[in-house]
Amino acid sequence: MTTTVPTPVSSPPGAVLAECAAEVLGRVPAMGLLDGRIVIVTGAGRGIGRGEALELAREGARVVVNELDADAGEQVVDEITAAGGEAVLDTGDCSEDETAQSLIATALDRWGRLDALVNNAGILRDRTIAKMSADEWDAVIKVHLRGHFLPTHYACAYWKESGNQGRIVCTASTSGLLGNFGQANYGTAKAGIAAFSTIVAMEMARYGVRCNAIAPAARTRMTESAYGAFKDLSDEGEESFDFWHPDNVAPLVAYLCSDTAGDISGKVFGVQGDAVELYQPFTSAAVIQNHDARWTAEGIAARAHELFDESGIEPEVENMMAKLRFSMTERSTL
Ligand SMILES: NC(=O)c1ccc[n+]([C@@H]2O[C@H](COP(=O)([O-])OP(=O)(O)OC[C@H]3O[C@@H](n4cnc5c(N)ncnc54)[C@H](O)[C@@H]3O)[C@@H](O)[C@H]2O)c1
Repeated sequence: MTTTVPTPVSSPPGAVLAECAAEVLGRVPAMGLLDGRIVIVTGAGRGIGRGEALELAREGARVVVNELDADAGEQVVDEITAAGGEAVLDTGDCSEDETAQSLIATALDRWGRLDALVNNAGILRDRTIAKMSADEWDAVIKVHLRGHFLPTHYACAYWKESGNQGRIVCTASTSGLLGNFGQANYGTAKAGIAAFSTIVAMEMARYGVRCNAIAPAARTRMTESAYGAFKDLSDEGEESFDFWHPDNVAPLVAYLCSDTAGDISGKVFGVQGDAVELYQPFTSAAVIQNHDARWTAEGIAARAHELFDESGIEPEVENMMAKLRFSMTERSTL
């Protein structure tokens, strides 16, 4: 991949006029958090990614819209353009090498730089472990893990060589952070994404690249198939706040892509409705030691209860999802 940075393209007078008109109409803020920034969003054709692409554009960013479904992607590009913003569609599977390279090349060819990458694309293939096929496992692991790795890899190679500072937002899930019934494939991928994000943050800190992850929750095509139908609040009047609306996720992502979040990296945020949460990483909660000697299994058996007594953690498997502050529904069968 070439890392030569072309000269940024300046806006033609017509575009400036269109921008002014859009500002007058109140669609593009006069001063956005991301003015002039170039951002890629994967899986931006619908759901959370769509909301992110629109919000990033609203904050002044030019957006490379990646999406498998060309029609859905095109619609988002049209919406951004109609509101006075700039966007370009790059269709394809972001977990494929060619698409991942193309995303970075599209940003550089069109606008001369890349400032942020939002890894959002994802799929579900829910099944309990005894019934899950290898194909269901592979498909989910590929889209999420390879779909995060490849765009991040090429973006980081560009940032490292160009000296430009970058922002990455990865998309984890409470299914990975806490575990969720019927989602061994998805939860494994999402826990991996949280770890991936932390490690990328460590490795890229010296190049001024910040990497964080979000664990969102929202009503989308993905969650409708997993959780069943949701109550549609759209009829309840403009004043009512739709807690599970997918667009509620986007402002946090725009913030994390901006300079105002320049001191935050390697963190995992929960985000849903009007709530933004900060997750604590896995940490040791209790310890037993054997006086500088290797344990025997019998020795551990005699003292293992101390770990649970000291920490207050239950030895039995726990439904951590059921303990969430914000949860859409409970699940028990698949
Ligand atoms: N909706 C939730 O409550 C929730 C909860 C936790 C995590 N997430 C995560 O948020 C992200 C977005 O999910 P959503 O709920 O908006 O789902 P969605 O199905 O509404 O949207 C996902 C979009 O990604 C696209 N896509 C899928 N695979 C792709 C690929 N390989 N390359 C390019 N595009 C691809 C799809 O075509 C679709 O338009 C996913 O990573 C998902 O795992 C969602």
